[in-house]
Amino acid sequence: MLLAFSEKAVLRMNTRNIFTDPAVAQFYDLTPRDRQDHMFCKSLARNAQSVLDLGCGTGEFTVQLIKERRVVGLDPAGAMLDIARTRPGGEQVTWVEGDARSFDLSETFDLICLTGHSFQFLLTEEDQRAALSCIAKHLNPTGQFVFDTRNPDFPGRKTRSKEETLSQSMHSKLGPIESWNISEYDEAEQILSFINAYKSLETGEIFSAPSQLKYTSQKKLAQLMADAGLQVTDWLGEWTGEPYHPLSREIIPVGRKA
Ligand SMILES: C[S@@+](CC[C@H](N)C(=O)[O-])C[C@H]1O[C@@H](n2cnc3c(N)ncnc32)[C@H](O)[C@@H]1O
Repeated sequence: MLLAFSEKAVLRMNTRNIFTDPAVAQFYDLTPRDRQDHMFCKSLARNAQSVLDLGCGTGEFTVQLIKERRVVGLDPAGAMLDIARTRPGGEQVTWVEGDARSFDLSETFDLICLTGHSFQFLLTEEDQRAALSCIAKHLNPTGQFVFDTRNPDFPGRKTRSKEETLSQSMHSKLGPIESWNISEYDEAEQILSFINAYKSLETGEIFSAPSQLKYTSQKKLAQLMADAGLQVTDWLGEWTGEPYHPLSREIIPVGRKA
């Protein structure tokens, strides 16, 4: 019997991982992103002698920090780190395959940053607490941390369809690529489940993988950070430096050890 599955259901059955599977990780840098987070973090790093880029992914930001300071990029996804290592300047970074929830580098840093909403891949309160406590442990007494997480109260839909997100780009080996994502938000759990898909327009082959993101309120984050021994000096609502307000797009805490 021929079973008809919706495109969404077929993609969902996919067991690839967006970051650890090289077949999907190879598309990460194709998505055009406005990287105001990089500019902000680079300005924070100006006087830092050592920086830890947690959840560094393919290292696009990490390699921008290498001038005259120690730089460590840490990520659990070997496939992302493999791309990072081949970047110009990648040889000057110490790349560590590790997890924000459990790493122990036996050194402390002047700046620890998580860009690109890496924090939202920590899906439970337990995971968030573990990561925040690792951050506190790896900060110098005057060291700073910064990360971004999308504000659950920002007005507008979080759910997206293929039609809304469809775009085209050029892969250096595979040629023209059509990409899209499909997402669904669970309001009660504050979890966004999504699928990223990339289709080679030359062969028709589709590479896709599902993942999830956690949304956390500013009030909850403030509690978690205080419990981890972290003090927030500034709450921003955008990487441009605007202060956080209850409906801002982002929640960006900047701070130190308490
Ligand atoms: C959206 S990417 C961001 C990468 C990079 N920071 C950027 O701005 O482009 C999220 C990254 O978080 C990493 N990640 C997921 N879970 C993590 C964890 N438990 N600890 C550290 N990094 C994690 C993923 O492997 C991925 O590279």
